Amino acid sequence: MLELKAVSRHFGGVRAVDGLDLTVNEGEIVGLIGPNGSGKSTTVNLIAGLFPLTAGEIVFRKQPLRDVPVHGRLKLGIARTFQSIRLFGQLSVWQNLWVAQNSPEDRSRRGFFARWLGGQTQVREEIAQLLEFSALGHKQNELAANLSFGEQRRLELARALAARPKLLLLDEPAAGMNAEEIGQLRQRIVDLRAKGITVVLIEHVMELVMGVTDRIAVLNFGQKIAEGTPAQVQSDPAVKKAYLGGS
Ligand SMILES: Nc1ncnc2c1ncn2[C@@H]1O[C@H](COP(=O)(O)OP(=O)(O)OP(=O)(O)O)[C@@H](O)[C@H]1O
Ligand SMILES: [Mg+2]
Repeated sequence: MLELKAVSRHFGGVRAVDGLDLTVNEGEIVGLIGPNGSGKSTTVNLIAGLFPLTAGEIVFRKQPLRDVPVHGRLKLGIARTFQSIRLFGQLSVWQNLWVAQNSPEDRSRRGFFARWLGGQTQVREEIAQLLEFSALGHKQNELAANLSFGEQRRLELARALAARPKLLLLDEPAAGMNAEEIGQLRQRIVDLRAKGITVVLIEHVMELVMGVTDRIAVLNFGQKIAEGTPAQVQSDPAVKKAYLGGS
């Protein structure tokens, strides 16, 4: 579904991502882990199209993404959440989801009024489903800025889902969550896969990433140092060394 071929992104002298090969298959939950500054968020930013590659190529469903801007990638079905939450704080929960809607059918050949009326009902229904999925129904009229941290993370996920992604990139979705919230997040990720969404999960919370992923790639200094099942990666000496501060 997604293929990164020898992808690099350098910032001045910093090789944030350095010759990374990574394949994500349809229906998989793939973990991307590594120490701080190892290039995980940069990888997500490159897939989402935030800035160009220094070298290499990214292909999504056989389409090279080089010239596809962020909104084009969103339309193709690539959505993401941010490591540092980015919501419209002065909009309500419901409004945050409304503006994130990306319904290709609504832009079809049907007439404007039919689209407006039909689209309205359909979109409202979808938002109601997203609110339920995210356990935010009771907060739908609350300003996003007034939500608790865990609720904001849930809204971020719901907002990414409002774009109807095929591929969902989650950048540390469990950061700042308590154990109960992490358990719920884990269930949501499993549910998303059951709905046919492919997931790339960046996470420092090992119990989550080890418990929910099919396969994990480990980055260190922008390079992939290991890849395999959670069990394989956990017992890999290079991974242990990277996490203990060696190089
Ligand atoms: N926009 C940027 N400009 C300059 N340097 C950057 C930029 N983005 C990332 N970097 C650098 O690239 C390297 C990789 O950063 P990145 O954010 O991808 O790491 P990460 O694996 O997500 O780390 P963390 O676990 O702390 O989130 C770091 O050295 C970082 O300082
Ligand atoms: Mg990061």
